[in-house]
Amino acid sequence: MPITQIVIFGASGDLTARKLIPALVGNARAGSLEGEIQVIGVSRSSRTSEAWRDELARWLPDSDLPVWRALAPHVHYIAGSVLSADFLAGLSAKLDDLAAGENPGRLFYLALKPTLFAPVVEGLSAAGMIQCPPGAEEGWRRVVVEKPFGTDLQTAMALNRVLLSHLREDQIFRIDHYLGKETVQNILAFRFQNAIFEPLWSREHVESVEISVCEEVGMEGGRGGYYDTAGALRDMVQNHVLQVLALIAMEPPASMAADAVRSEKVKVLSSLRIPSPAEVARDVVRGQYLASEARVSGYLQEQGVPDGSDTETYVAIRAGIDNWRWSGVPFFLRTGKCMHQRYTEVILNFRVPPVDLLNGPVQGAACAMRPNSLHLLIQPHEQIRLGFLVKQPGPGTMMRPAMLKFDYRDIQTEPTAPAYQRLLLDAIEGNATLFIRGDETEAAWRFADAIREGWQAPGADPIHGYHAGSMGPAAADALFRGCEGTWGRGS
Ligand SMILES: NC(=O)c1ccc[n+]([C@@H]2O[C@H](COP(=O)([O-])OP(=O)(O)OC[C@H]3O[C@@H](n4cnc5c(N)ncnc54)[C@H](OP(=O)(O)O)[C@@H]3O)[C@@H](O)[C@H]2O)c1
Repeated sequence: MPITQIVIFGASGDLTARKLIPALVGNARAGSLEGEIQVIGVSRSSRTSEAWRDELARWLPDSDLPVWRALAPHVHYIAGSVLSADFLAGLSAKLDDLAAGENPGRLFYLALKPTLFAPVVEGLSAAGMIQCPPGAEEGWRRVVVEKPFGTDLQTAMALNRVLLSHLREDQIFRIDHYLGKETVQNILAFRFQNAIFEPLWSREHVESVEISVCEEVGMEGGRGGYYDTAGALRDMVQNHVLQVLALIAMEPPASMAADAVRSEKVKVLSSLRIPSPAEVARDVVRGQYLASEARVSGYLQEQGVPDGSDTETYVAIRAGIDNWRWSGVPFFLRTGKCMHQRYTEVILNFRVPPVDLLNGPVQGAACAMRPNSLHLLIQPHEQIRLGFLVKQPGPGTMMRPAMLKFDYRDIQTEPTAPAYQRLLLDAIEGNATLFIRGDETEAAWRFADAIREGWQAPGADPIHGYHAGSMGPAAADALFRGCEGTWGRGS
């Protein structure tokens, strides 16, 4: 029976307890794990394996405890610092002991603060713990790297350089948990397993695309200190929003193999128009939430946020993709904290018919009504809605909007597996399709960095306040021009 050893660095941390162990248990419950799984948790604080198992069990629902009891004897805790060469040498020997003469595959999960990613990989490499031949079925070595991957292009490139001097790209699994969401993966399935939408999926028929990732929460759980070092652009746009954009805008891949999909995503991310400072001032709106009836504290009053911080909690961008499929089509991107609703949605707005045959041009009407749009609602509930016009019954030629709607809940018998469950399984199985390649993350940073540079340039648009619980700053409405419409309002 093959053995897989999952070595979690950062064993006592929040991510391990809240996401990784429940993901592992979810996979065990679903019967997805092959062979024997051993979990080895590492962090500096001292505790026994029994104590660690008890701590982790507290985060699991009662219904998962029988599965956990079966896994628990294979769950071990080892205290030590990943920065110590001696500790890593000892760890290597302990992993071999646990393998009892077998040649297990090893997944090293870096659930650590990002400044430790490079030193750990250097240490593991020096200890001879991550070397393996390409395509190894047994004795493979993989490293999962958490987000954030760098804080800008320079730091991302530096981290990629370190990783790639000790690992091959096929051993590196950079996580963006958004790609583990069933509903995000369905974007590709919807686009490429149906024949009727793809012919419309281009500048010829699409007038604009909107991607909104709206959150209702603010700095709950004392996140203010961390968040203030990131902001909405780095925390959400550079990764999640641009990943959704890549899936919406990419060309059909040659196959679903990791490199085929990721090469297409890189192509589209590299075609994002890099805005000049003047274009940032015109095409990007940043905001910060204010106290309102919905919330007693504004961002500046949140715990951990420095006085006078100008970190954005909202950003809206009118982006452009300079390639044959999308040239001239604005992509409206938006994300924010403390907004009116929590939802993630993609809307394709189709062009208006060239002639209004039934009613002719309406005198004085500024813009023709836009009859057709396709809404892909990603969360909280997955829905697909196609809007069109029908004739109002009766003698006249009045038109009224109608909607075809599909709700995933209608065909779903089981709750969707959490994103980490799918991603952990893929990493164990060596399937990197839903993980980010090094060049992808760099292309996304190039775009995000240009926006941040624009915010620091003379003449930059100031940060706009918006009331918590609202749709964000009114200034973001002006990113839509002429007859382009406005932001979707959620469900
Ligand atoms: N939490 C989330 O929901 C979440 C979501 C997305 C991404 N992430 C990313 O996941 C990573 C971990 O986040 P987290 O929230 O779990 O952080 P955390 O709660 O602060 O945990 C950090 C862990 O690292 C350990 N550690 C620190 N220095 C160490 C060293 N030198 N050697 C060994 N272990 C060491 C800590 O334990 P000791 O102090 O005992 O050593 C602790 O177990 C971060 O990169 C974060 O950005 C987290």
